[in-house]
Amino acid sequence: MESVVQAHDLVFRIFLEEDRINSRVKELGAELRTRYAGQTPVFLGVLNGSFMFTADLARAFSEDCEVSFIKLASYRGTQSSGDVATLIGLETDLRNRHVIIVEDIVDSGKTLQVLLQELRQLQPASLEIAALLQKPDMLEHPIHVAYVGFSIPPHFVIGYGLDYNGLGRQYAAIYQLAEDGTV
Ligand code: IMP
Ligand code: MG
Repeated sequence: MESVVQAHDLVFRIFLEEDRINSRVKELGAELRTRYAGQTPVFLGVLNGSFMFTADLARAFSEDCEVSFIKLASYRGTQSSGDVATLIGLETDLRNRHVIIVEDIVDSGKTLQVLLQELRQLQPASLEIAALLQKPDMLEHPIHVAYVGFSIPPHFVIGYGLDYNGLGRQYAAIYQLAEDGTV
């Protein structure tokens, strides 16, 4: 496993090794298996960042479940000043289902707050969040993340699905932006 990787102009150092991620994901899977016993929950991965975590979490869960993916598309409204986020790609009927939103990382919490608002309208039986990473110091929106893999300091990370401008998703480990930043 590399200890230093580069994405575009930036250098990142090893932060969470593959083994540590794998054992934590297995623990989360076991916790969810107990919580959702006999309920065939829906794992709803938020693309793109959560593709790897969602796959591993569903395998760790290992009981009956459904796996589906959604995406938040941001665009600038023609009239309005701010970004508008819309939910796309949802093909599963969530009414009366036990839904677990699967996110790579919770930063300000804005993404999840928008998602929770949209998904609650679909009247799931229950709605919880599983996030591999959370930066608690950065949280600005009052959301509750029931299942957190690792709480981390507010530094930029890549790997295990997370990217920096499109690069870095393929790594099995997670790397943190080096203090001295550039090459
Ligand atoms: P939030 O809406 O501020 O909570 O931001 C969450 C989203 O920002 C995540 O789903 C990621 O796509 C992205 N993000 C936040 N922090 C990082 C990071 O350290 N590395 C890569 N992506 C990040
Ligand atoms: Mg994301």
